[in-house]
Amino acid sequence: MKVVAIANYKGGTCKTTTCVNLASALVADGKRVGVIDLDPIADATQGFGLRPASMPHLPYALVPDEPAPLLDGFVDTEWGIRVLPSGKKMRAGLAMVLQEHPAGSGALRDAIAAMPEGAFDYLILDCPGQFSEVLTHAMVAADSVVIPIDVKSPGAVTEMTELARHCVEGGGHLGGILPCRTDSTRLTRDVLSQLEGSAYGQWLWRDDQGTIMIRNTVRVPEARYAGRPILTHAPDSSAALDYTRFARVIGGAQ
Ligand SMILES: Nc1ncnc2c1ncn2[C@@H]1O[C@H](COP(=O)(O)OP(=O)(O)OP(=O)(O)O)[C@@H](O)[C@H]1O
Ligand SMILES: [Mg+2]
Repeated sequence: MKVVAIANYKGGTCKTTTCVNLASALVADGKRVGVIDLDPIADATQGFGLRPASMPHLPYALVPDEPAPLLDGFVDTEWGIRVLPSGKKMRAGLAMVLQEHPAGSGALRDAIAAMPEGAFDYLILDCPGQFSEVLTHAMVAADSVVIPIDVKSPGAVTEMTELARHCVEGGGHLGGILPCRTDSTRLTRDVLSQLEGSAYGQWLWRDDQGTIMIRNTVRVPEARYAGRPILTHAPDSSAALDYTRFARVIGGAQ
């Protein structure tokens, strides 16, 4: 099982969109996929059309004395992705449990490692959009940290650089940078060339068509509003095609 964390310090940088649609594109390629929604706002949970759970399972899975098996908390969705939902109580539960486990303790990593072998091919972690203990735990738990950046957001490259450094210095495995909401404007070109010229330029994903990026389209917020992944909502849209390419690179098909 490969664990992929979708992370950025900053709010609104296309993390949840990437989590939901990468999961759905991996399932379309025949992979078994689980998602853990680590954000108390529960956007990923709702992005799959689920209601936020009132009794979050995750904190209990981290209690050392009588751990509830993490896998028991996952629920099925009609898209074949199994989701461990978040909800309002997640923040309190996680804060309580993770306070006792400093990020270096690898509590989340251990709870994930205790899952039955072969439960999923991919486990994707959607992280909160702020610096927190949860984010650090997720980065330590992941085999690959994906940092999506919103090219339309000022300071996106600087913030990405800080997180990438934090990830590498904290012993995390940086997977790469995914530019999102790209279009044919000068702003997109400027951000891409800033990225390519930075120390992290080699961390962009590439396939035989070039650098992987997710194009800006109104179909993405539409799909979120409908509580469906973009591959189901608008399979021919640019973002659906881009997430399919991304899933193939993540899945090792390219
Ligand atoms: N490719 C895209 N085209 C158009 N809009 C997009 C695209 N990707 C994301 N968005 C929009 O950008 C906004 C932020 O996206 P998203 O919720 O995925 O960010 P986030 O990083 O998870 O935010 P938070 O930090 O609040 O969890 C949403 O309104 C989403 O619909
Ligand atoms: Mg989010």
